[in-house]
Amino acid sequence: MFVGLDLGTSGLKGVVMDATQTVVASATAPLAVSRPNDGWSEQAPDDWIGAAEEVMGALSADTDLSRVQGIGLSGQMHGATVLDGSDRPLRPAILWNDTRAAAEAAELDADPAFRAVTGNIVFPGFTAPKLVWMARHEPGLFDRVAKILLPKDYLRLWLTGEHVSEMSDAAGTSWLDTGARDWSDTLLARTGLSRAHMPRLVEGSAPSGLLRPALAERWGMPATTVVAGGGGDNAASAIGAGIVAPGQGFVSLGTSGVLFVATDGFRAAPDTAVHAFCHALPRGWHQMGVILAATDALNWFARLLGQDAATLTAALGPLEAPGRTRFLPYLGGERTPLNDADIRGAFLGLDHATDARAATRAVLEGVAFALADCEDALRATGTRLESLLALGGGSRSEYWVAALAAALDLPIDIPADGEFGAAFGAARLGMMAATGAGAEIATRPPIERTIKPQPALVDAFAEGHARYIEARDALSRLA
Ligand code: XUL
Repeated sequence: MFVGLDLGTSGLKGVVMDATQTVVASATAPLAVSRPNDGWSEQAPDDWIGAAEEVMGALSADTDLSRVQGIGLSGQMHGATVLDGSDRPLRPAILWNDTRAAAEAAELDADPAFRAVTGNIVFPGFTAPKLVWMARHEPGLFDRVAKILLPKDYLRLWLTGEHVSEMSDAAGTSWLDTGARDWSDTLLARTGLSRAHMPRLVEGSAPSGLLRPALAERWGMPATTVVAGGGGDNAASAIGAGIVAPGQGFVSLGTSGVLFVATDGFRAAPDTAVHAFCHALPRGWHQMGVILAATDALNWFARLLGQDAATLTAALGPLEAPGRTRFLPYLGGERTPLNDADIRGAFLGLDHATDARAATRAVLEGVAFALADCEDALRATGTRLESLLALGGGSRSEYWVAALAAALDLPIDIPADGEFGAAFGAARLGMMAATGAGAEIATRPPIERTIKPQPALVDAFAEGHARYIEARDALSRLA
């Protein structure tokens, strides 16, 4: 048996998978984000531990875990968890969608070494600029930083007592030599840090340590339980969905929106806002476009109306051509393709006839167009996109996936009901680390149906995308 834990932004999920890769139990615990200032986004690392205790407590109460061999970890990427010499968090973690370090990111990005070594723009949400922000705004705390961990790696520290990260998540720090799969001493030094501040690196499918005896005993698990390197949530989702061969990809409608493609080797495109990162398997890489608000945008709108998101999308019926109302989902700035921390969202084309239904459609379309921007960015680097699988909570809305298929002009596969997300991918990485299995166990899920772009609507969505780009460019000038 294998356990997968995914530390998301809105909650922590755990799954238990048997040797045939059937999920036999799952549990979740919610997490809240605190936004104490414009553009800030934080969580207390100890809340992550609390959520993991709740999830593991529920799993061990319902399921006999005495035959667990491996645990895999997945989590929200890029977050800066800064620890003192006793491994205590010095401040709340600064998350992936926090843009306070925009000025520091621009400064690092202007140093040619960062793009050359990492293969990526230094985005405000990445880890390194957050530490430069701390050095400037919280120098007393910065001086006490002994270790910097990514969110899931803080869970690992609690689980194993070890400071370890793995390649896919480390690629989102701006400190990794992504092609060489190692920390860059040069880049660390440019931010006043050294390798001693960093965790040791392993591959996602390799062991990173053993479960601490006290926890093994508490949950009735063997003392020999191996904890795998795991993956950033996008790479782990790809492992869960069997996306390892070049050209295979997924589109994810989670808190963030992601268009992910496995690539044949390291395909850096540092002059664009395309991310080129390590995959969670040895010698694997991928590209992705990331938008900061997907379900985050819909949930914001649902809160505004005092309704829940599922009720709003359930009322929509079959896909229609984009209407006059336009929505731009830049609630907290944007990553791909804009790299703009200051841009904010907008509704345009409101009129007396705009009701909740029309505005909901505009929100879903706006997110679909933002992901079409990501598709354009990936294709401009020469990347092939052969197939796409829909993942994430938002993919439960048929309307949203149909809008995406039309906006991307690509068929989108919907997996049959089941667990194929990041927690499942993490469990697979746990299985690899514990048994020595490789990519062959990362098979594709059964597909329930394929939503094809509707020929009658593809042109209307292309026009809608062109109008979206016009509005986006005007908005960039305003910000
Ligand atoms: C990826 C990214 C987000 C987070 C969300 O670069 O920032 O997808 O990983 O969990």
